[in-house]
Amino acid sequence: MVTSVRMAPPLPLIFLLMIHGVSSADWGVSYSSSHICALKDSSVIMNCTYTYPTGHQIKRVFWTKTKDKKETEEFPDLSNDTEYSQRLQYLGDKQQNCTIRLSHVTLKDSHMYYFRFTTDKDGKWIGKIGVTLTVTDLQVESPERVTEGDSVRLTCKSSCNLTDRATFIWYRNSQKILNESNKLNFKSVRREDAGRYSCAVHGHNHISPAVQLNVTYPPRNVSVLINGSGEIVSGDSVTLICSSDSNPPALNFSWFKENESSAVGSGQSFSALQSGRFYCQAHNQHGSQRSDAVTVTVKGHLVILYISIGVVCGAAVIIMMLVWGIRRMKKRNDTQESQMVDSRPHHDRHKACDVELSNPVYENVTADQLDDCKPELNSSVYENLPQNNKRL
Ligand SMILES: *[C@@H]1O[C@H](CO)[C@@H](O)[C@H](O)[C@H]1NC(C)=O
Ligand SMILES: *[C@@H]1O[C@H](CO)[C@@H](O)[C@H](O)[C@H]1NC(C)=O
Ligand SMILES: *[C@@H]1O[C@H](CO)[C@@H](O)[C@H](O)[C@H]1NC(C)=O
Ligand SMILES: *[C@@H]1O[C@H](CO)[C@@H](O)[C@H](O)[C@H]1NC(C)=O
Ligand SMILES: *[C@@H]1O[C@H](CO)[C@@H](O)[C@H](O)[C@H]1NC(C)=O
Ligand SMILES: *[C@@H]1O[C@H](CO)[C@@H](O)[C@H](O)[C@H]1NC(C)=O
Ligand SMILES: *[C@@H]1O[C@H](CO)[C@@H](O)[C@H](O)[C@H]1NC(C)=O
Ligand SMILES: *[C@@H]1O[C@H](CO)[C@@H](O)[C@H](O)[C@H]1NC(C)=O
Ligand SMILES: *[C@@H]1O[C@H](CO)[C@@H](O)[C@H](O)[C@H]1NC(C)=O
Repeated sequence: MVTSVRMAPPLPLIFLLMIHGVSSADWGVSYSSSHICALKDSSVIMNCTYTYPTGHQIKRVFWTKTKDKKETEEFPDLSNDTEYSQRLQYLGDKQQNCTIRLSHVTLKDSHMYYFRFTTDKDGKWIGKIGVTLTVTDLQVESPERVTEGDSVRLTCKSSCNLTDRATFIWYRNSQKILNESNKLNFKSVRREDAGRYSCAVHGHNHISPAVQLNVTYPPRNVSVLINGSGEIVSGDSVTLICSSDSNPPALNFSWFKENESSAVGSGQSFSALQSGRFYCQAHNQHGSQRSDAVTVTVKGHLVILYISIGVVCGAAVIIMMLVWGIRRMKKRNDTQESQMVDSRPHHDRHKACDVELSNPVYENVTADQLDDCKPELNSSVYENLPQNNKRL
């Protein structure tokens, strides 16, 4: 596809240089555009016609970009220039059309170009003013830093005026954006609009370098992360970390305990030592926001002590009740036994003592048994008793 972008309205300009005193009216070169603004990498057509007096035969036609030469030398032929030879195509003829096409133009091609022709009758012509070619690339012009809510305009800039017909294509992070103008307007820029912007012209390969649009904004989505569990034992601490989405990143954090007006700490992380509901507030130069509160529960040693004491006491009470219960049951059995003591020759030592105090029947009581009962009886009573079968 052959494309060229013209800047100036097509003014047929004829500049003549008279040689050998021939009538100037017959000699001439005319370019349909004196200024051409071309996009880098595109192809340019330089429309051209030339005239000469009848009777002359055209010997040589060529384009040059140099008007400086020695008297005896010919202008340098562009098609002999290695920079151009591969990209230059003569579309004209040897009668009147001197149109050329230059492909894959580069910024270095920006120059004035002239058409030169010679005839068999030693006629030589060159336009005084040639075609001015300006090759441009595209640059996104953007404010370097904007804040959310600002009105922002991005412009796709070129160093020369492209035609009105040029339609632009915009990209954000390589994704096409719908707007054909060379201006992209944001009435109220959002953080989502941040990204790398580039632009191009429809039908052309050249694409501008990407430009970063940096949208700054106050902290949002502020939240507290608990490193570990929110339940701790007193003496330990729990680390709370404040996170936020902000640009530039929030570096200033304040920590608060719910229902307390003054800050309890600062910095991105905070060590909570007490129970309570804590929240953080993140600040940057555009504003601040607070997080929801998180609950920290401290289980003190005292609580554990109380619980331990409770458990121990409970166990003790249960054991005591069990012992008491067993004793009661045994006592009841003994009472029954003591009532039957006459018919029983032997019985338990202690029970015998208890019984003996109230019931003086000792026929079968041994000395050992009586010794055990001594503290409860007057010892002198037993002094003269035989070792066995003592009787009162
Ligand atoms: C070149 O000139 C011809 C005839 O005047 C015109 O039809 C054509 O559009 C021109 N091309 C450019 C690229 O100016
Ligand atoms: C290069 O220049 C020489 C004269 O210097 C000429 O004879 C020759 O035809 C030119 N080559 C082309 C491709 O125009
Ligand atoms: C000159 O030749 C080119 C290419 O063949 C053509 O597009 C253009 O219309 C011609 N110009 C004139 C004035 O005939
Ligand atoms: C482009 O055109 C505008 C008017 O449309 C003019 O003000 C400006 O100077 C032109 N720029 C160039 C580089 O010619
Ligand atoms: C698209 O371009 C038009 C024309 O310049 C402009 O008014 C409009 O705001 C642009 N739209 C966007 C989304 O940038
Ligand atoms: C951040 O907050 C916005 C609303 O302000 C919400 O749409 C978005 O999903 C949140 N992002 C995260 C990662 O929580
Ligand atoms: C979070 O806890 C882990 C281990 O539980 C520890 O390695 C890490 O350093 C802690 N991070 C912070 C920010 O305290
Ligand atoms: C955007 O601007 C902020 C504030 O100067 C800076 O901290 C951040 O690194 C910038 N981001 C990018 C992607 O340039
Ligand atoms: C942090 O923010 C608070 C509240 O806006 C402010 O008073 C304090 O000076 C800030 N500290 C720093 C180091 O910027």
